[in-house]
Amino acid sequence: MKKLATNPFKFGDPVEEDYYLPRPGLSSSVKQFLENQIHVVLMGPRRFGKTSFALNLLKILENENYDCIIVDVFNITSHRDFLHQLLRSVRSRRPFKNALKSWWNGVSRRIPKFSADFDPMTGSSSLGVTLGQLQEEDVKNAIQDLLEGLSLLGSKVVIVIDEFQKISEIDDKGWLEATLRTHLQRLANVSFLFTGSRKSLISEMLNDPTRPLYRSCQIIEFPVFGAEFTDWVMKRFNLVGIQCTKESIDHLRGLVQDTPNYVQMVCFHLVAQARVKISTTDVEEVLETVSRQNAYAYQTLLNSLTLPQRRVLRLAANERNSLFNKEFLLKYEIASAPALHSSLKALKTKGILDEEGTTKGKVVFDDPLFAYWLRLCFQI
Ligand SMILES: Nc1ncnc2c1ncn2[C@@H]1O[C@H](COP(=O)(O)OP(=O)(O)O)[C@@H](O)[C@H]1O
Ligand SMILES: [Mg+2]
Repeated sequence: MKKLATNPFKFGDPVEEDYYLPRPGLSSSVKQFLENQIHVVLMGPRRFGKTSFALNLLKILENENYDCIIVDVFNITSHRDFLHQLLRSVRSRRPFKNALKSWWNGVSRRIPKFSADFDPMTGSSSLGVTLGQLQEEDVKNAIQDLLEGLSLLGSKVVIVIDEFQKISEIDDKGWLEATLRTHLQRLANVSFLFTGSRKSLISEMLNDPTRPLYRSCQIIEFPVFGAEFTDWVMKRFNLVGIQCTKESIDHLRGLVQDTPNYVQMVCFHLVAQARVKISTTDVEEVLETVSRQNAYAYQTLLNSLTLPQRRVLRLAANERNSLFNKEFLLKYEIASAPALHSSLKALKTKGILDEEGTTKGKVVFDDPLFAYWLRLCFQI
């Protein structure tokens, strides 16, 4: 067996190999859809492992002769950014250079100015600047050409667009959504896998008949791990000679809304602190320390909210399963039920809270560590 690095836990970035617990059931169902040219939207909270899962799935698909790329659109603010990310992903794959060339020939015929400024085969440093000189219309044409060109990448192609709900936040009257829709239908050998973390935005994109992506994809909720995750964590501890109880890991999972990233983070610190036996108290201590380390950022976020929104946030942190209990209005000093609803709506728009399934009166925090910190600070 490969020698393990000192710490058997990792958090923050996507994980692979030993640090990744496979999700075989999910892999095979997503794979089946993609193989049958049914586009898939994987919807789950941030830090749950969507990117790790997508990267792992692409490895499996590549072994079966699919040509795949992953495009991260988390930070896009414009069509130009989108084009930039798409180009980056295509270019990062050496076998795709030929495909890029034919795309390039198409674009340069249509947009002579672009071709004069930009050589798609050279380093990426000049790219941002060059794209910056393009008119919006040229950018749109280039996006269309590049999407069209995706079918040239191979005989069977899978494109992952990671955090794709960002596309809906671009203020373009739905142009990018509509353009994607056209290509979803047109490109016979290309299947798309979209991942997204804002449930409310994604539901609107796919379930509203007036929106371009209406019913264009199979939606799959990213599942929480079952008991196998606790077993896996305990085994990882054992590898470095640390004993821990099943209860302590299950307790930790509950405290962090079952977010794998935070489970691995707390475990990482427990190993780093060289504890030999892990109990629920150890878990709580570490979680408290790391959440307090973020106090400055959390405080800044709180300060950007109105007073009623802050009260509703406290309510949500402490009673997230039964928000609409009448007694809580008084307890949390919330003026009225409509006031509660309007603050909830604002907090969802800001991306601090999101819907939990279809259950009324239930919300989830985008950041469960923030919820934990709120509970520490404002326990009533
Ligand atoms: N399958 C997995 N097995 C173990 N840990 C995981 C797994 N998926 C995610 N994680 C943990 O979650 C963290 C974030 O994963 P990532 O794929 O970036 O999540 P997302 O894309 O949903 O935000 C990883 O660094 C890792 O600690
Ligand atoms: Mg991700």
